[in-house]
Amino acid sequence: MKKTIKDFDLNNKRVIIRCDFNVPIKDGKITDDSRIVSSIPTIKYAIDNNAKVILMSHLGRIKEENDLKKNDLSIIVDPLSKYLGQKVTFINETRGKELEKSINSMKEKEVILIQNTRYEDINGKKESSNEVGLGRYWANLGDIFINDAFGTLHRAHASNVGVSLHLPSGIGLLVEDELNKLSLLKKPDRPFIVIMGGAKISDKIRVIETLINKCDYLLIGGGMAFTFFKAQSKNIGASILDEESVNFAKDMLESNKDKIILPMDIKVTTEFNNESPSRVTDINSIKDNEIGLDIGPKTVELYKEYLSKAKTIFWNGTLGYSEFSSFKEGTEEIMHYITKTGATTILGGGDTVAAAKVFNVKDKVTHASTGGGATLEYIENEKLPGLVCINNK
Ligand code: 3PG
Repeated sequence: MKKTIKDFDLNNKRVIIRCDFNVPIKDGKITDDSRIVSSIPTIKYAIDNNAKVILMSHLGRIKEENDLKKNDLSIIVDPLSKYLGQKVTFINETRGKELEKSINSMKEKEVILIQNTRYEDINGKKESSNEVGLGRYWANLGDIFINDAFGTLHRAHASNVGVSLHLPSGIGLLVEDELNKLSLLKKPDRPFIVIMGGAKISDKIRVIETLINKCDYLLIGGGMAFTFFKAQSKNIGASILDEESVNFAKDMLESNKDKIILPMDIKVTTEFNNESPSRVTDINSIKDNEIGLDIGPKTVELYKEYLSKAKTIFWNGTLGYSEFSSFKEGTEEIMHYITKTGATTILGGGDTVAAAKVFNVKDKVTHASTGGGATLEYIENEKLPGLVCINNK
């Protein structure tokens, strides 16, 4: 068992909390603040227990100077301070005199947010390569380290693994809650049904291999369905194909033919946009110039039939290109349906949870994970770097 923030006396201590404020941003605006909202209980707990709170997070990926401005973490300050109901002081550097001075003069219950930890990647990837000196520098700014960045647990970076090596450490309330909820998949009530979608199989091979052995049925949708169809020598027209995974799909189908359920019909179009005319077709009649962008109504009914018996459901990846209103129906209908099954339902992955929010089902499922890659990697292997390095009780 890992120590949690509740195992520490935080009174008057400098508590570094690693959050995952890696939120989606479009045209300079945060489009989904779920990760900020999910971080609040841990930060509030630290404030209520008289800590001096130092927050760190990455935002986006920093490869060159151009990436700096669009990934400026100060965008988090206003929503964070609104949800906390108190001032958050932003320090526009990741190390240096201003940061050190501000921390030295902190009073209990004050909150400081440090600039994007990945600004340290601009000169030699110090954050992402977990440079020892950087982890040690950040650790010197605090007395206790709390890792609450669930979405980043699969990374071994200086701001999570590096810092933790030099300070007493624990997990935050968000990480604790995520681990508790995901543990429901360890010994799931049966039937246990997994829904998998999204574009490519290759990103998800290991999680598919893990889940196929645990689940009763694997319902496939999204772009990845076409790689399975290709493995069955069907014509997929101009639909997305994950060439390198065709053999994997063939092997999976051969060894799990009663478990893997593929769509019966598909909604196709000829142009990749929301407006061009579409039609529903049997999966054996896709034309050469057609692109499949959603599951069809017969598939929706078929999947509902399987799901009606489920006691546990795990879902990763949308069943169609649900950002386009013309191709959202399959995902939307099945999402609404699972909330009525009474099954334990867990959603994992950024796109899936974003769709659940748009379709107003996010608050009706058992758990919508804040992790994307971290959730899938945790299901494959619980020993994630950001977790392993945290002190045990
Ligand atoms: C995520 O969004 O999956 C996490 O914040 C990790 O981000 P990364 O994939 O850029 O490391």
